[in-house]
Amino acid sequence: MADRYQAAVALALLATLVLTIALDPRTHLYESRYDPDASPAEIASWLRYLQDVQSAPTWDWFDQPAQSPLGAPDFEGRYLFGRQRYELRIQIRGEAMHYVAKGIDDQQEGGAWFALGQGRRQGDGRWFSTWSCLDLTRAVSNGGGAWFRFGAGRQSIDVQYYHDTEPMGETPLEGGEAVLDTADDTTRMLEGRIPLRTPTVVAAFVLYGRVVDETGQGVAGAAVKRRAAGSIETVADGRGFFALPMDKVEALTLVAAGKIGFANGFVALEQETAFTKNGAMQADGNLAMATISLRRLATQDHRDYRWVAPQPTPVGINYEPARHLQCGNCHVREYQFWSRSRHATMATNPWVRAAFELDARPAALAAGDTRDQCTPCHSPSLAAGLEQFHLSGPNLLQVSGVDAEGNHCDFCHKIEAVTDPARPGLDGSIRLLRPDPRDAQVPGSIKRVFGPLPDVSYLYMGASYNPLFQMSLLCAGCHEHEVANTPVLGQSTWSEWKASKFAAPGPQHKECQDCHMPAYQRGILQQITGPDGKSRQTVLGGDLRLIEMQNDAIEIARYGTRRRPFSEGHKHSFAGTDDLAFVKQAVRLDAALQRNGSQASLRVTLENTGAGHAMPTGHGLKRYVLVVVARKAGALVALAPELAEAERIGQAAGASAGMVLGRQFANDWQVPYWRAQAQTLDTRLQPGQPRQFEFNVGDADEIEVRLILRRGPPGLLREHGMDVDRSQAGRAEMDQLVQSWRP
Ligand code: HEC
Ligand code: HEC
Ligand code: HEC
Ligand code: HEC
Ligand code: HEC
Repeated sequence: MADRYQAAVALALLATLVLTIALDPRTHLYESRYDPDASPAEIASWLRYLQDVQSAPTWDWFDQPAQSPLGAPDFEGRYLFGRQRYELRIQIRGEAMHYVAKGIDDQQEGGAWFALGQGRRQGDGRWFSTWSCLDLTRAVSNGGGAWFRFGAGRQSIDVQYYHDTEPMGETPLEGGEAVLDTADDTTRMLEGRIPLRTPTVVAAFVLYGRVVDETGQGVAGAAVKRRAAGSIETVADGRGFFALPMDKVEALTLVAAGKIGFANGFVALEQETAFTKNGAMQADGNLAMATISLRRLATQDHRDYRWVAPQPTPVGINYEPARHLQCGNCHVREYQFWSRSRHATMATNPWVRAAFELDARPAALAAGDTRDQCTPCHSPSLAAGLEQFHLSGPNLLQVSGVDAEGNHCDFCHKIEAVTDPARPGLDGSIRLLRPDPRDAQVPGSIKRVFGPLPDVSYLYMGASYNPLFQMSLLCAGCHEHEVANTPVLGQSTWSEWKASKFAAPGPQHKECQDCHMPAYQRGILQQITGPDGKSRQTVLGGDLRLIEMQNDAIEIARYGTRRRPFSEGHKHSFAGTDDLAFVKQAVRLDAALQRNGSQASLRVTLENTGAGHAMPTGHGLKRYVLVVVARKAGALVALAPELAEAERIGQAAGASAGMVLGRQFANDWQVPYWRAQAQTLDTRLQPGQPRQFEFNVGDADEIEVRLILRRGPPGLLREHGMDVDRSQAGRAEMDQLVQSWRP
């Protein structure tokens, strides 16, 4: 009885299963190479997010097209696209097209999404557009391009499109159909996501092209590259022309151009029309023509632009459209590294605040100087809103909100130029070019980022290539300054670098970024056996995700791109003195003991082998302390030169001898540059100049040499309220042992 009951239940379940599969609306009517099916529960959960699409960041004017600063559209239509019936609303003005789309789908890590696209009519009558997507379920991004060919009476559109995203690889083109959303069309099964599988053709080609501005004038000197090519491939000549040799032609060739003063521009050439004649690859001649049009940026800096905060927003039930564009949502790894750097914490650094409040400000006021010479660098986001820097005006003690994020993503990526490195930060050195927050052309609140890549076309970024981002000069904005009314240099890191071998052309050439923002580190791919007995790959160490290791490429925004070569990603760690391993590899300590009868002399060699500037660099607060400890029968032996009492503390306590390697002001190692009229000594280690120090150690029987990195003068730290006896210096330990030696 029980058996028969169970069999019946089993049969019923089987029948339900068969029926479910047969009736499942998600059963594929087309071939998809990569979409794993989502469960009904997942799909239901995404539907909830679809409601949020209404509030996703977009062009503010799209829903009131008549009031658009672009004018009323000549044509408006609402279409349905593909099997999932994505909504596609199109507006056309003259030769220009804008659209917004929304839907849910079961692509890998899919969900509910919102996309918008922008493009123009081409010579062949089709419309080409770039589109960019916001995933509302997971707050990530994604983008690509599309060609539209309208059918008769604009009733339907033949759509050919691509995602920039892998895993489409070299054959990213897909086809589909959109139909005007009229009542009698609701039962029609539409097609979408049909991989076109255009094969790559191996052929030697020269792609000829021209970079032009909106008026059709050539743009001289524009940097040109194919997407994710690894570096700038060529530069446009005086009339904007360029030639790009190629050894293969993929289904799609994305060529981008950028120049300072313009938003990035970009053209997508399909093999079919751009590289072939009558359907066949050209046998001779082998040329194709590409025109890339760049939009000129307005040159006015808009002070009323509001910074977009760096933090990722928790993704989940409470979608916050206003926070969707916060950088950390998409640039996860950049955020992770940056947030642990001093750039992230500098506006609230307790030592800097104390130094300003208890020392620099009262000292300047007492001397009759009312200029605030600290805020323009230490609180750049706040400083960017000030007209002048006055000690009784708003200053670094008053930071709040996004200004408390220090040198944050949006701030640094809106630096257009560094005009006079000798001036401090926002007070005459850094020139920002903040966009007009009302700029109707760029959707969302960010409007513009400057960066190293001309081939970024993601619409929400408004990306603009700026070679400054690969130059030390960018950093000179705050890592170099003179002090008003004195010959003292507040910082000279940039000039120190310029005088070093690293600034000279050649194999040793290294900009600040090459050492402080290096390429990501690979880990090791390993096969492991899980608890289920199945073998799978994992990655050990390094900065990369498994999928990046497997593909030997990186993503600089989550799902936002074709994978990029390593040279196009940079660790935003701004590694410095908090990273002991980084410091250690940069300085060599050797020592040798020479005995002469009962007497011995110790020779210590120090060399700055890895820093592109003096060690230490900066204000002259930091110093290295070279310490020798010598004992005879357990008792300390006093040696020359004696380390000053004020420095015989922390890791240097109990020193027999020692010296300070740093910048000395006003003949006193405890005085900061801002209270000095002159620098009296510079004993730092310059790059590539080994130095020797001799100590007569007598008949000591126990010897130790230490090189200590000290964050600041102990006496000064104490004045600023730091607990020096517990080695405290603001955000860090006062002392770090960098190298040591024993015979
Ligand atoms: C101190 C200035 C500075 C800050 C702050 C900063 N960046 Fe960058 N960023 C750069 C520089 C410089 C480069 C180019 C490095 C190169 O090409 O050598 C860059 C490159 C990038 C790129 C292009 C890809 C790459 O890695 O080269 C992205 C994306 C990016 N930054 C995002 C961010 C985000 C997100 C944040 C905040 C979490 C941020 N940046 C904070 C200076 C900065
Ligand atoms: C919704 C996702 C998203 C958010 C939020 C976002 N970005 Fe991006 N960003 C992208 C994508 C996608 C790219 C292009 C990736 C590619 O082409 O490989 C990009 C590219 C960049 C680049 C490179 C530009 C170039 O031309 O070199 C910079 C710099 C950048 N973003 C900075 C920022 C900053 C700063 C913020 C916050 C104010 C931010 N991004 C927020 C998705 C995002
Ligand atoms: C807007 C000003 C500003 C710009 C631009 C800037 N920095 Fe900084 N940077 C600072 C300040 C201020 C600090 C000190 C923060 C602190 O310790 O609280 C700092 C700290 C650092 C440190 C850590 C210093 C330490 O004590 O270990 C490094 C490394 C660094 N910056 C590198 C760079 C590089 C490389 C660039 C260019 C890509 C750059 N910075 C651009 C202001 C800036
Ligand atoms: C060849 C690699 C290299 C180059 C190039 C380089 N640095 Fe450094 N930098 C280092 C190393 C290594 C350290 C840690 C050792 C130390 O304490 O100086 C360091 C330390 C620093 C520090 C913090 C420690 C200190 O001594 O105050 C700052 C700030 C800094 N660098 C800024 C810059 C800037 C700005 C540039 C470009 C003008 C630059 N660096 C160029 C390797 C480099
Ligand atoms: C040109 C930009 C600039 C100006 C102006 C400037 N600083 Fe700095 N400051 C920096 C940078 C960069 C560093 C990191 C390198 C170093 O430690 O010397 C720094 C580091 C510091 C530190 C050490 C922080 C730590 O935790 O190690 C203190 C304290 C400090 N500054 C105080 C001041 C005061 C006070 C003023 C005004 C009198 C001032 N700074 C003006 C750029 C600047």
